[in-house]
Amino acid sequence: MANSIKAIHASFLHCLANPDVGGQDVVQFIEHGTMLVANGKVIKLGTADSIDVPNNATVVDLGNKLVMPGFVDTHIHFPQVDVIASYGTQLLDWLERYTFPEESRYSDYELAEKTASFFLDELLSNGTTTALVFGTVHPESVDAFFSQAAARNLRMICGKVMMDRNAPSNLTDTPESSFDDSQRLINDWHDKGRLGYAVTPRFAPTSSPEQLTMAQKLLDDNPTVHLHTHMAENGNECDWVRELFPDAEDYLAVYEKYKLVRKRSVFAHSIHLSDNAWKRLAKADAAVSHCPCSNLFIGSGLFDLRAAQKHSVKVGLGTDVGGGDSFSLLRASNEAYKIQQLQNHTLTPEHAFYLATLGGAQALDLDNQIGNFEPGKEADFIVIDEQATPLISRRTSSQTHWRDRLFTLLMLGDDRSIEQTWIMGEPYSPSSN
Ligand code: GUN
Ligand code: ZN
Repeated sequence: MANSIKAIHASFLHCLANPDVGGQDVVQFIEHGTMLVANGKVIKLGTADSIDVPNNATVVDLGNKLVMPGFVDTHIHFPQVDVIASYGTQLLDWLERYTFPEESRYSDYELAEKTASFFLDELLSNGTTTALVFGTVHPESVDAFFSQAAARNLRMICGKVMMDRNAPSNLTDTPESSFDDSQRLINDWHDKGRLGYAVTPRFAPTSSPEQLTMAQKLLDDNPTVHLHTHMAENGNECDWVRELFPDAEDYLAVYEKYKLVRKRSVFAHSIHLSDNAWKRLAKADAAVSHCPCSNLFIGSGLFDLRAAQKHSVKVGLGTDVGGGDSFSLLRASNEAYKIQQLQNHTLTPEHAFYLATLGGAQALDLDNQIGNFEPGKEADFIVIDEQATPLISRRTSSQTHWRDRLFTLLMLGDDRSIEQTWIMGEPYSPSSN
C-alpha cells in the first residue's frame, strides 16, 4: 500500500518559478486535476482528463479541495515553544529574561524529545512540512530533534547553537567543544534520509572570533551543510556588533571575515542592511529569512523586501517561534503583507505564496526536492479547507478566481485552514507517532 501508485484528484496550486520574474503566470492553478504519486514522489500532475490513471493506482478523491505544496519555514527555534508570546521586551532583554533561562533546560534529552515531538506536530498541523531549525547549545537537543523528525520521515534541517560568550555560563560552549559537537552531529545525522545539518552560530555577539573560525572550518570540511544564524534584527543588537567588531565595515562583514556568507547560508531577519550589504549577499548567493510575526512581536523593524528583490537575494518566510507568535506561515504572510503596506509596497498574493513554498525551498537550496509539484519532487503537500471559518466561507463565496481565494486564505487563514498534511505521499496523523 505504502509504495503503490496513488492518483490524487483535487484542485492544485503551485509556483513554477519566482513571480518577481514571471508575475502571476508562474503560478499554475489546475481545477479538477490529478496528481500521480509513487514511492513518495510526484510522477505527474495535470488536468484530470489529461492524466492516464494506471489500473493498479489507489484513487484518492479530494473533490474540489485545494492542494498546495507544504510550507517551508526558513527560521524557527524548537526549544522556544514555551517562550512564545512572552510579554514586554525587545530582542536583547527578551533573550536574557525569557529565552536563555528556557534554553538552559535543554541538556535534558527527554525534555528535548517531548518538545520536539510537540513542535513537529504543531508545524505539521499548520501545514509546514520543512523547516530550518535552531536547537540549543546542547548537542542532545539536536539528537532529540532529528530522531523525532526521522520518525515522521520529514525533510528537516537543524543545528546545535554555537555560543561561547555573552551568555549564561550554563549555556556556553568553547570553540573546540562547539567544533567537536557539531562535527559529531554532522557525522550522525547530516544527509541521513531527509535530514540535513546547519552550522549554527547564534549571532555575532555570542561567538568569539575563535569560534567563528571554527564555524568556517566546519563549513569547509563539510561542504553540503547549511549555515544558519541571525543578522541585523534589532537596533541595539547592531550597535553592540559595532562595539564588539570595530574593524568590521558592517554586520555582514563580520560573517564575511570568517567566510560564512556563501550558498546555503541563511541569515534570519536581515532588517537593518545597507544597499551595499544586499549586493554582497546576492553576490555570495546567500539567502535571508523574513520573519514578519517576530519582527512585529518583539518590535524589531520593517523588512525591506523591495531591496531583496532589487538585488535578487533569495528570501524565504520564517516564523521565528518563540520570537514569533505563530507557527502558521499563513499568519506570517498576513503580517508580511502589512509590513510591505507600511512601506508603500504591495505584496502580491502570488509572491507571498511563493515565499511560503518554492521561495523557501530555493532559499534552503532544497528546490530540487520540494517546493512545488514538478515530476520527481517529494510529495509533501497540504489540503486546504476553504470553508475553515464562517468568515472565510463568507468572504470566498463570491470569489471565483484562484488569486482572490488565495489572498483570502493568506490574510484570514491559520491552522484551521489546513485540513490534512501529507508527507511523502502519505497522510500524516499525529497519533501514529
Ligand atoms: N538573536 C540571537 N538569538 C536570537 C533568538 O533566539 N531569537 C531571535 N529572534 N533573535 C535572536
Ligand atoms: Zn530566531
